[in-house]
Amino acid sequence: MIQEKEYKKRKDKLANKLSPHSVGVLLSAEYKTRSNDTEYPYRQNSNFYYMSGFKEDNAALVFVKTKKSFKTVLFVQKKDETIELWSGKRLGEIEAKKRFSVDEVYTSDMFEEKLKEFIKDKNNLYFDLDSTDKRVRNIKKITKKLSSHKNIALLVNEMRLLKSSSEISLIKKAISITKQAHHRAMQWNKTGKKEYELQAEIEYVFKKNGAYSDAYTSIVACGNSANTLHYIDNDKALVKDELILIDAGCEYAYYASDITRTIPVSGKFSQAQKELYNMVLEVQLKIIKMIQPGVKKSKIQRKSEKLLCNGMIQLGILKGECKKLIKDKEHKKYYPHGIGHWMGLDVHDEAPYRDKNNKEIALKKGMVLTIEPGIYCDKNDKTIPKKYRGIGIRIEDNILVTKKGCENLSLKIAKSVQEIESFSK
Ligand code: GLY
Ligand code: MN
Ligand code: MN
Repeated sequence: MIQEKEYKKRKDKLANKLSPHSVGVLLSAEYKTRSNDTEYPYRQNSNFYYMSGFKEDNAALVFVKTKKSFKTVLFVQKKDETIELWSGKRLGEIEAKKRFSVDEVYTSDMFEEKLKEFIKDKNNLYFDLDSTDKRVRNIKKITKKLSSHKNIALLVNEMRLLKSSSEISLIKKAISITKQAHHRAMQWNKTGKKEYELQAEIEYVFKKNGAYSDAYTSIVACGNSANTLHYIDNDKALVKDELILIDAGCEYAYYASDITRTIPVSGKFSQAQKELYNMVLEVQLKIIKMIQPGVKKSKIQRKSEKLLCNGMIQLGILKGECKKLIKDKEHKKYYPHGIGHWMGLDVHDEAPYRDKNNKEIALKKGMVLTIEPGIYCDKNDKTIPKKYRGIGIRIEDNILVTKKGCENLSLKIAKSVQEIESFSK
């Protein structure tokens, strides 16, 4: 759990980043219509949640900054017995004032009127320039006389790069639930079953353990389906001698986990599957060892490409000299994606990879990223040894950068051939 004093600290920090004589606006997420009067499950906007800890919709957090001081203002939905009967309790402005470390609280219907008041004598407005929220049109209209509109999202995203110890605890909790889910998948008897049944086993563990939702749509891809990177149909049969690529992670208390394991349907890897699997695993372990403060992601990306390219040459998937193959991007056919990404409130956390001067950001203690090398051998690729055709492998862990190196937060999720096979005994 994140304490209110941490939210207070975040707000102070963001306020300090705003230029004097400015107003900053962060908006809650909107409900999205599924059809008619039915909505998709609500998920708070990550930047708004990071700053406020407030889960309700139709809310806004506003920073009003003069030359030296600032105040924070939260807008919340009005209490309404009839609406609450249908849609659940609202906190309301009186309770919100007690609960949250903000200077003022108003009901959301006062947002525009108050915004007009706040922008008097101000020069800049900060808001999420990419927001599609329907309130943005009026915000722009009200504030069009201000000399500049700046992107508040960039400032919050920057803060989200470094995780606090309480954030790390929540990520660890998400990973521990995801671990149980992957282990259930490993021990579950897959004979004659479908991908969606395995998905159900995994997501059962998420929900059963209090995870709000998955952090992204689960990928349960048997055999050649694993070669479609974002395969989410999950509707095919599990075929006895094939591998299943499972990329699934829960979201717990708004924090993501993002784990991929590739496991045999039968419980045992074939010789060819083992060769390919161990090659990817070796690369993954070597890359994780490189992670420490000061290292840049581009360096680990290049290294992963080199290691995988060499591995593919050894297995006869690629032919030629590694340097030339990489120059000609031949390896990309089998390893087309990045080595990893930031992770936190979002699975692909919206933290920057480059600083204000467009210089690449080096790893620092407190950052969390995924490491996920993969090899994808299409069943129709006649250029590769037959035994590897139709196999797709990705191995993904979640890594915390520490003072001197890193901690693999998902280390306890079975990963070696032996560990995975031990589940089917
Ligand atoms: N699950 C999405 C990814 O691995 O990036
Ligand atoms: Mn990932
Ligand atoms: Mn993933």
